[in-house]
Amino acid sequence: MRSIIDVSDLSLDELNELIKTACDIIENPKKYGEICRGKKLATLFFEPSTRTRLSFEAAMYELGGNVIGFSAAGNSSAAKGESVADTAKTVSCYADIIAMRHPKEGAALVAANNASVPVINAGDGGHCHPTQTLADLLTIHREKGGFSNLTIGLCGDLKFGRTVHSLINAMSRYKGNSFVLISPEELKLPSYVKKDVLAKRSIRYRQTTDLEGTMPELDILYMTRVQRERFFNEEDYLRLKDSYILTPKKLTNAKKDLCIMHPLPRVNEISVAIDDDPRACYFKQVLNGKYMRMALMLKLLKEAGTL
Ligand code: CP
Repeated sequence: MRSIIDVSDLSLDELNELIKTACDIIENPKKYGEICRGKKLATLFFEPSTRTRLSFEAAMYELGGNVIGFSAAGNSSAAKGESVADTAKTVSCYADIIAMRHPKEGAALVAANNASVPVINAGDGGHCHPTQTLADLLTIHREKGGFSNLTIGLCGDLKFGRTVHSLINAMSRYKGNSFVLISPEELKLPSYVKKDVLAKRSIRYRQTTDLEGTMPELDILYMTRVQRERFFNEEDYLRLKDSYILTPKKLTNAKKDLCIMHPLPRVNEISVAIDDDPRACYFKQVLNGKYMRMALMLKLLKEAGTL
């Protein structure tokens, strides 16, 4: 049974196929409105979410299917000590496909190894978040017209930001891209991502603490929130949380066609004064996430022989 744990589980051809399906859904929504009639998505969210859970649910409803699930570990038998493996086996008896978020790295893989229906990782701890990357890819495709020869600045919490790890993994598979990794010293990109992804694929990158100095060269600026929930002590979080705040003044030297992205939720990282700037793409990412989750569920259900 095929599950999606990381974006590298999808080939480049498959990513292109998902983009194509999502674009077709955008153009012809009625064509897809009944396709999942009688099918059920289970959303198992052991950790808070607004966008990911609700966009998965909206996606299944817009495909004509239904949704079951829980939005907090405390509302499930995990609160009584049930394992992720047993939860996955149980939910497989009720649903055709599972989307799961969990605070522990590797939890989605455990679920996939025990479920008898496809499992989609909706975020596992600080590890990865493949469907956010699908949302990001559709946004880049629609805003930039392709995925190659881009200078991508990633700014903020690059240590714990799982969306950053997944996006680097995806964009480093396309030709001619380079990365500028902008973070405080304490929140630099983990060595395993640099070694296993960037170095292995001979991708150009540099690390800096300077956001404004980097601005003129960027085609994409991907801002991220400092992940309070992953810190061991509050003092460090409070010291680092406002390291980077994007304001209109800081965009003075930015390209006219810069694409400003953020997986959201934002706390202070982007001033609301930027929301009306045509370069602000973060709410477009939210909508694109729904289309890509529709495309991904269709693909996995078809491959499982459920559709
Ligand atoms: N981007 C994202 O994963 O948002 P939520 O935590 O609200 O799902």
